[in-house]
Amino acid sequence: MAESAQPTITEQAQGVATKLANSVAETLYLGEQSKDDSAKSALPILYIDEKAGNDTTGTGAELSPFATPLAAYQSLNPPAESDANPSSVANLMVRKPDSVERNEWVEISTSGKKKLVKNISGWRKSQAKLAAEGDRLAKEKAEREEKERLRREEAKGVILVDDASKESKKTKIYAVPELVGQRVRINGWVHRFRPQKTNYFLVVRDGTAMLQCILTGDCIKTLDALDLTTESTVELVGTVEKVKEGQTAPGGVELLVDYWKIIGRAPGGADAFDGRLQQDTDASIRADLRHLELRGETATSVMRVRALLLRAFRDSFHKRRITEVTPPCMVQTSVEGGSTLFEFDYYGAPAYLTQSSQLYLETVLPSLGDVYCIQESFRAEKSLTRRHLSEYTHLEAELVFIQFKDLLDHLEDMICDVVDTLLADPVSSEIIKTLNPTFQPPSRPFLRMDYRDAIKYLNENGIKKEDGQDHVVGDDIAEAAERKMTDQINRPIMLIHFPKLLKAFYMQPLASAPDFTESVDVLMPNVGEVVGGSMRITDYDTLMAAYKREGIPSDPYYWFTDQRKYGTTEHGGYGLGVERFLAWLLNRWTVRECSLYPRWMGRATP
Ligand code: 4AD
Repeated sequence: MAESAQPTITEQAQGVATKLANSVAETLYLGEQSKDDSAKSALPILYIDEKAGNDTTGTGAELSPFATPLAAYQSLNPPAESDANPSSVANLMVRKPDSVERNEWVEISTSGKKKLVKNISGWRKSQAKLAAEGDRLAKEKAEREEKERLRREEAKGVILVDDASKESKKTKIYAVPELVGQRVRINGWVHRFRPQKTNYFLVVRDGTAMLQCILTGDCIKTLDALDLTTESTVELVGTVEKVKEGQTAPGGVELLVDYWKIIGRAPGGADAFDGRLQQDTDASIRADLRHLELRGETATSVMRVRALLLRAFRDSFHKRRITEVTPPCMVQTSVEGGSTLFEFDYYGAPAYLTQSSQLYLETVLPSLGDVYCIQESFRAEKSLTRRHLSEYTHLEAELVFIQFKDLLDHLEDMICDVVDTLLADPVSSEIIKTLNPTFQPPSRPFLRMDYRDAIKYLNENGIKKEDGQDHVVGDDIAEAAERKMTDQINRPIMLIHFPKLLKAFYMQPLASAPDFTESVDVLMPNVGEVVGGSMRITDYDTLMAAYKREGIPSDPYYWFTDQRKYGTTEHGGYGLGVERFLAWLLNRWTVRECSLYPRWMGRATP
């Protein structure tokens, strides 16, 4: 029947139900999808640009993208549960190099996501490994600390007793080698220190010498032993023994310690002495730390020879009946020209730090005869050469009733005498041997070279002026040329007869050539000029003319001029730079190493 093509009521009802169901399902599906979308849109968006991004400085913002998806993911500090589906914690938007111009960001691709998941897994693994390593290190540290705590606890119980009933002789270290077999008490600084399982080897210095000390038994179990550092001050008591055959130690002896303690502990760790000054420490830091550098073996040796050198000079002067005086350092007249004067305010009037005590020495010739002084001189040098200081120790002598030749002979005698004395002294000779192994005492007579011959020498040997020109008579011989010549000749030179116009006002003109002077510079290899000296003008009128020539007002020099008025006579003298002499003797690169606390342009500390 045709009606059969028509749906029955039931069929109709079923169709409506199906439609309804479909539309509900559709509605439900769409609802889920919009829920997903809204969940996604709630997630943070992180931008990634492999080329323009940066994993260290990037923030993930569009203008500050990361370079890799992994860094973007890590930035969220995500829980491990999201590792398999990184998109559940962020929308990762990637910009390809070819879409930079269009500024086109697209969601990370499926393959990108896969790669990211793999990278996350690698990252998690290395994190875990690091954490395990950290745990192991932390455990080890805790164990070490505990061990140390126990060691210290134990050490607290070890008390060394300074047994007053047992005799000990307090002594400086230099005398220890004479006290073999005796119990002695010494104080000093820990110069070197080598802890071993059963022994501690300490080299202690007290300024007079060094001593090897051996600590054993309870001596290395105390808190002081645990806390020992170099440069700590210590007191040690023990028996002096000769070192065993084949072994060496300072003085050939060592101290077997039975009691000791730290007097002042020097810091360890980051502030430890040994770390503050090293071979390659920058020169300006070394200069700042001069007070610590002076504890080093080289600086100590130089200072020790310096002391012995001054003593040798004093002895040599004393032997010659030359009397020491101590002129003032604050003056109101210049000696070596105004350009290197340090000026200061002296109660409202200008005054200077002395450049030389020469003029004062000259004033006491009539009362004390030959005189000398060892005094600081000051030069406002505007150069930073290795032989110039702003303050240096100036050894000056003035000799009366002499001729120029006598002055040169005396200088030669003094220098050779002092060198001989230092080479005969066990302490200084040992240091000279160590610091300047090829040193030979100067052979006499010293080469005496006229200034005009030196000019010839320079030209014949191609030693030019600073401007590349040949030297001519009248030229000042610059430091470099002077040093070159001295090093070539390689023996002390007495360079004599400088032109009047190059030298100070007080120098006696040469009788045979009045434009030149009876003057001398002693030049030493490696340093150059170490001594400057001359005969002095004896005649009143010549002196007045010299003031005038140099533009020096004579009034402030009335006390000096009076020497030419009240019994004038021939006399001469010299000044020797102690630091330069030491630099020559000990083969030091610069005079700065030969001064306790050197001053040069820009430095007056420490
Ligand atoms: O040659 P100078 O300037 O001579 C005089 O001062 C004379 N009045 C000395 C005298 O005859 N009593 O200096 C003498 C010596 C030089 O040869 C040099 O060794 C040293 O002093 N000297 C310096 N040393 C270190 N730094 C400086 N800036 C120096 N200036 C001079």
